[in-house]
Amino acid sequence: MSGELQDKVIIVTGAASGIGLASAKRIAAAGAKLIASDISEDAGHSLVKDIRDQGGEATFVRADIGVEADVARLVDATVATYGRLDGAFNNAGIVQCGKPLHELTTDEWDRALRIDLTGVFWCIKYEVLAMLKTGGGAIVNTASSLGQVAIANASEYVAAKHGVMGLTRAAAADYGALGVRVNAILPGIIETPVIESLSQNEQFAAFLVKLRDRHPIGRFGQPAEIGEAATWLLSPAASFVNGATVPVDGGYLAI
Ligand SMILES: NC(=O)c1ccc[n+]([C@@H]2O[C@H](COP(=O)([O-])OP(=O)(O)OC[C@H]3O[C@@H](n4cnc5c(N)ncnc54)[C@H](O)[C@@H]3O)[C@@H](O)[C@H]2O)c1
Repeated sequence: MSGELQDKVIIVTGAASGIGLASAKRIAAAGAKLIASDISEDAGHSLVKDIRDQGGEATFVRADIGVEADVARLVDATVATYGRLDGAFNNAGIVQCGKPLHELTTDEWDRALRIDLTGVFWCIKYEVLAMLKTGGGAIVNTASSLGQVAIANASEYVAAKHGVMGLTRAAAADYGALGVRVNAILPGIIETPVIESLSQNEQFAAFLVKLRDRHPIGRFGQPAEIGEAATWLLSPAASFVNGATVPVDGGYLAI
């Protein structure tokens, strides 16, 4: 395999499903040495087998991004396996929503923030430490349209994703001059297993119908469409893109 990420060592978190799965395949097809990471081991191993069967290079490392020691171990394992770290797509997350703010417990709030925001902080921290040893790299975080605007009954998710936007810009300011670019992608609604399972709820299904009209392109997105944007942002073709928060949302944020 050869392509725009030839021989780059790249971590993808949340690689076992949805956006992460499609992106991991695209990144490996672009020639990267992929470290696929997730809490879901069977699906992670099966992704790695598929990539290797097609002539690509990939390794699975289990890591819960809500546990700092796991994130540190993920980066250590990457450097131990491939000798360096060039890029990371910090994509793992949970879509926790469904309650108005006053009904949220502190435990629910903490869980959402720990995985969707603090997990991204730990990823950036340990990735940057590794990248600085070899001259730099590129980091892409998955935020959301809800990193820029809100919907009802999702305050913990909206707050976490707004945080990912701020963290992306702050990290871009800290490390741009040191050769590490940090950007974020803001997906609109993407047809992934998490959206499929939320749709089992009648209220959410009705809400999704309304949300479709909010996507001017007239449909929801596919995971591979986020994979294209992630691959570009990770690649040298995006060499002057730093601190950008890029909507890939069919126009959701445009109207
Ligand atoms: N699907 C959408 O419409 C949409 C829209 C905007 C943003 N996003 C964001 O995109 C990212 C991926 O979502 P998706 O739709 O592909 O969901 P998904 O549920 O299909 O995939 C998420 C993956 O992350 C993994 N994961 C969950 N918690 C983890 C943890 N603590 N540590 C490591 N891995 C963990 C899951 O096992 C799963 O494989 C998330 O950050 C989500 O917030 C999704």
